[in-house]
Amino acid sequence: MKFFIDTANLAQIKEANELGILDGVTTNPSLMAKEGIKGQDAVINHYKTICEMVNGDISAEVISTTFNEIVEEGKKLAAIHKNIVVKVPMIKDGIKAIKWFTDNGIKTNCTLVFSAGQAILAAKAGAAYISPFIGRIDDSGWDGMDLIIQLAHIFDMQGYTSEILAASIRSPLHIIKCAEAGADVVTSPLESILGLLKHPLTDIGLAKFLEDAKKFA
Ligand code: G3P
Repeated sequence: MKFFIDTANLAQIKEANELGILDGVTTNPSLMAKEGIKGQDAVINHYKTICEMVNGDISAEVISTTFNEIVEEGKKLAAIHKNIVVKVPMIKDGIKAIKWFTDNGIKTNCTLVFSAGQAILAAKAGAAYISPFIGRIDDSGWDGMDLIIQLAHIFDMQGYTSEILAASIRSPLHIIKCAEAGADVVTSPLESILGLLKHPLTDIGLAKFLEDAKKFA
């Protein structure tokens, strides 16, 4: 399973990248706004910086909602760097645009996926990545992980080549469950990635080893 970080924060991207386990970055308009990035030039420069920092796929989301506008915006984003993946919302014109990008050699990530039916359409259109939002499904009283399990089964049965990119991750346990369920990629905040490191017995064990080491140092 690949590890992406879900942020536009450069310090967090740097920290995750320095761990040596980072395969890519996903962003969205809310995450870009959180960093105070304003204006097209600033957005483009920010994506450029991320692409120079991380050697992997970097999702840049369109903010257009009609076919022609999504295609025009996506072409501009894709021109920023060879590793840019155009992130397109799961809407009718989005599906049409994903098919257009697929036919024209531009990789896409279909975002805001909340059902198997939506994921099947995105796979048929040729999306490189499909992003089910498991945390937001959990928030609404359903089990987001059920969707990952269902998609892993369908994609395997049907031989779809799109990668299941589990998004809206809220905890280290989400990451572990995604690995169990067969997600191809997980994109999570830095906090959830670092949470995987933690175990109290590791801390207790290390403290004891370091204490004992003083006896022969
Ligand atoms: O980037 C898309 C997704 O990961 C958003 O997560 O926490 O806003 O539901 P969240």
